[in-house]
Amino acid sequence: MPQGVKVLKFNRQVHGCCSFLVNPGYFCPPMNEQPSLYFAPFQGITTKAFREVYARHFFGTDKLYTPYFANIAVDYPLPPLKLKALREQFENGIPVIPQILSKSAPEILSFAQRCAGLGFSELNWNLGCPYPQVARKKRGSGLLPYPEMVSEILDQLMTRMPLHFSVKCRLGYEDAGEIQNLIPVFNRYPLSEIIIHPRIGRQLYSGSPDLRAFGEAITSLRHPVAYNGDIAAPADLQFLQSQFPGISRFMIGRGLLADPFLPARIKGIAINGKETEILKKFTDDLYHAYRRDKKESHTVLNAMKEYWKYLILSFDDPRSVFRKIRKTASYDEYEEAVQRVFEEHAPAGINPSGILRDDG
Ligand SMILES: Cc1cc2nc3c(=O)[nH]c(=O)nc-3n(C[C@H](O)[C@H](O)[C@H](O)COP(=O)(O)O)c2cc1C
Repeated sequence: MPQGVKVLKFNRQVHGCCSFLVNPGYFCPPMNEQPSLYFAPFQGITTKAFREVYARHFFGTDKLYTPYFANIAVDYPLPPLKLKALREQFENGIPVIPQILSKSAPEILSFAQRCAGLGFSELNWNLGCPYPQVARKKRGSGLLPYPEMVSEILDQLMTRMPLHFSVKCRLGYEDAGEIQNLIPVFNRYPLSEIIIHPRIGRQLYSGSPDLRAFGEAITSLRHPVAYNGDIAAPADLQFLQSQFPGISRFMIGRGLLADPFLPARIKGIAINGKETEILKKFTDDLYHAYRRDKKESHTVLNAMKEYWKYLILSFDDPRSVFRKIRKTASYDEYEEAVQRVFEEHAPAGINPSGILRDDG
């Protein structure tokens, strides 16, 4: 297995990625209004090329988020690579929202001004990244135990913020109660939206979303809230809607990487063509976009393998699919393996979910 490539665990026995979905007796109300569906950011996966190719092939997504930007030099123009990653404000009509990971108000403002200059309308602040090397520096979810720091940063930011400013956060870093101390802080500022992934930072992606703590948080937050976490099938979203009727915005990550048709399935948008053919064309277009973008460097295969770790769940026998892809070491081998995957493994259609947990 190439370094850094880890097969995700999955369990097809469980209905729904969320353990709270296992009760077969729950009532699924019909959806009256279409929810807003956001494609979650993934460092190293939802790149500019990915967003562009994705948006050409699939429908139903309302917002696309960039992976986080960090280390912005204050008052300097953005370097070419960062500019390239911010090239489009819309992909096939879908707004792209840049995201910043920072605990410095001047850095966030500087990035916001660059984004405003490029024509973006919103900036998202990452208060959710759980990785210890980030959190240790009080960035991402590592800032959540320090509401006074969050308040200071927002104080410096909000009078000069040229864009809608939204937050993506967890319930806390050490403890799900931390959000309760953050809510009065968030409520003091004109944030455009708060996206909550109801885990704590220390959990990374293990365990289940804490729906009770999420429910408590939304009763006192005065901003629009979006739910994010473990949505892998339309039934997951319907269940969440039945639990939280006031929530109509949902961010979907791993479930959408695994089943790119998921937003269309949720919204009942007809899929125009054979799913297998659309999926094959999408993976081919993405691969060629990376070859162009990365100037034929060896990182093309790594980028594709990183994505296949999720996409394998669209197929029967995901482990066997991933084995075929991960051992490829040249473009020819990769192309042959993809061809075999599409010949030998039927896409499973509606993702039966039981989505993977990326917890080891
Ligand atoms: C490999 C990886 C990279 C991620 N990169 C980012 C990122 O750049 N910014 C961010 O806010 N969240 C990032 N996330 C978190 C996802 O956006 C999302 O919040 C998380 O996967 C939970 O949603 P899900 O259960 O629908 O997947 C990342 C997650 C993973 C596994």
